[in-house]
Amino acid sequence: MSGGMVPSSSINKVITCKAAVAWGAGEELVMEEVEVAPPQPHEIRLKVVCSSLCRSDLSAWETQAIFPRIFGHEASGIVESVGEGVTEFKDGDHVLTVFTGECMNCRQCKSNKSNVCSVLGLERRGLMHSDQKTRFSIKGKPVYHYCAVSSFSEYTVVHSGCAVKVDPLAPLEKICLLSCGVSAGLGAAWNVADVSRGSTVVIFGLGTLGLSVAQGAKLRGAARVIGVDINPEKALKAKDFGVDEFLNPEDFNEPIPQVIKKITDGGADYCFECVGDTGTVTTALQSCCDGWGLTVTLGVPKAKPEIAAHYGLLLTGRTLKGSMFGGWRPKSDLPSLVDKYLNKEIRVDEFITHNLPFEDINKAFHLMREGKCLRCVIHMPNQL
Ligand SMILES: NC(=O)c1ccc[n+]([C@@H]2O[C@H](COP(=O)([O-])OP(=O)(O)OC[C@H]3O[C@@H](n4cnc5c(N)ncnc54)[C@H](O)[C@@H]3O)[C@@H](O)[C@H]2O)c1
Ligand SMILES: [Zn+2]
Ligand SMILES: [Zn+2]
Repeated sequence: MSGGMVPSSSINKVITCKAAVAWGAGEELVMEEVEVAPPQPHEIRLKVVCSSLCRSDLSAWETQAIFPRIFGHEASGIVESVGEGVTEFKDGDHVLTVFTGECMNCRQCKSNKSNVCSVLGLERRGLMHSDQKTRFSIKGKPVYHYCAVSSFSEYTVVHSGCAVKVDPLAPLEKICLLSCGVSAGLGAAWNVADVSRGSTVVIFGLGTLGLSVAQGAKLRGAARVIGVDINPEKALKAKDFGVDEFLNPEDFNEPIPQVIKKITDGGADYCFECVGDTGTVTTALQSCCDGWGLTVTLGVPKAKPEIAAHYGLLLTGRTLKGSMFGGWRPKSDLPSLVDKYLNKEIRVDEFITHNLPFEDINKAFHLMREGKCLRCVIHMPNQL
């Protein structure tokens, strides 16, 4: 195994390695030689082992304006070196990165009510949390980060609060999926919705997020899971993850909330939006029942961020809730999800539809864009 076997001479020095750099919105990534600075105080530098492509990477690449940039946030790696003040990690530790960190000290982290850390939460400007600078450069010019993770690089630097140490026996080429999508879906069903036994659940969007919600809902004893997707190819895999009925809105002449109301005696107990479209949030809210119907929205919209809904939907007792990383506090909770995977209590491997070498990373973007994959795992060179 080569992980962690970086010559000790690299410690505190710039590493030059390959990274897939996005130079413009929707433009093919280009394999470049980048310089990766040593970790600053409270940061760690990782040798990335595997990184799977999540829809959020694709949406940001298609629509955002921060370039040049290194995407990738659903990743596993091995600690290469640690910055000043880091006591939790040492070189050779196996880790998962997280796009929303846990500082353990801020009001949110201490509240026990939230996983939205106000210090190390979602980073949107392409910079490191600590000094608002980048750790990547090409010939001295900055290359921006994504979600303070940027795992489409052989090496990356993350804040020590944005990485979680995991059991070294866990296969890094599989558990990278727990770094974002699978955990975000399971947590939405378990922590945010708290799905109850015997309930009816409707899931809009049957990608990795939606099917992880389905897995979570079934494990909680949901009686009926209905999946809604505009891509008929999603039906088969959905069945495997516990979706009992598949609806394609294009097969119906009436709006989908009416269809759902009819087949569920007035609407679902829980609806989940796993598409990333605010119109679908409205549809989901319309599809849950009066009184206690709960809609959980997980998707991150590319456009039209405002949600429109008739106030009457809320007046009659429905609730709309957002869910980031499934409510999990990464440092506190993620190791237990890895244990559940190792104990075969949750499925992860089945979400991996493709394995690709790093140099084929653009194929992963194409496959996701065309709706042909759940998760493509990108394997970095010279690994296990
Ligand atoms: N909240 C979080 O913590 C979190 C974490 C990761 C990803 N996300 C977001 O969740 C969403 C889903 O991510 P994913 O990786 O599963 O994506 P994905 O592309 O694999 O899945 C999306 C699915 O939605 C379907 N779809 C598209 N338009 C639809 C419509 N109008 N009605 C029904 N289905 C439709 C697609 O066919 C696809 O199957 C994205 O917006 C992503 O950015 C959120
Ligand atoms: Zn993600
Ligand atoms: Zn915090």
